[in-house]
Amino acid sequence: MLDLREHPLPFFNEPAPPIYTGGQYSESAAEAWRLKLAQYDAFIATVAEYNHGPTAVLKNALDSAQQEWIRKPIAFVGYGGIGGARAIEHLRGIAIELQMAPIKQEVNIAMEPYLGVVQQGRTLDDYEHLAQARTALFEHLAWWASALRAAR
Ligand SMILES: Cc1cc2nc3c(=O)[nH]c(=O)nc-3n(C[C@H](O)[C@H](O)[C@H](O)COP(=O)(O)O)c2cc1C
Repeated sequence: MLDLREHPLPFFNEPAPPIYTGGQYSESAAEAWRLKLAQYDAFIATVAEYNHGPTAVLKNALDSAQQEWIRKPIAFVGYGGIGGARAIEHLRGIAIELQMAPIKQEVNIAMEPYLGVVQQGRTLDDYEHLAQARTALFEHLAWWASALRAAR
């Protein structure tokens, strides 16, 4: 579990794009973040939607590493009015530019389950369609993770 509250990254503040610096960052927090990411073969991002896009904090976290994302799969769990679907679509394009493999399967926690969990004491397991989507997401992410790990 990587919680961005435990990685308070500065807004991107490098003299040059990391692609020109061998993926090294001058900000120590960004450097620590990218070295942490290097330990993982796959990622699942939880995605809130702000004005139909991903949050600035998540985008900044993606910009705060470069080589550590390459040729690794990423999946998305979104929440919001329509389950973060619009923010996730933005993120797929960003992931391609980062040379990642964004997978199709996603979990969209829309308003009814969102309020059920926040206000009515339910859990996400109470929603069959979310449980099915979660299983599919893990199945496909694990496939891509082991295939790309071997290929890397
Ligand atoms: C500036 C702002 C813009 C938002 N825009 C959207 C939106 O476009 N679509 C949506 O479903 N929810 C939107 N929301 C609602 C957020 O999804 C909701 O506040 C959610 O709890 C945010 O997650 P967070 O509490 O982890 O920041 C917006 C919230 C804020 C503060």
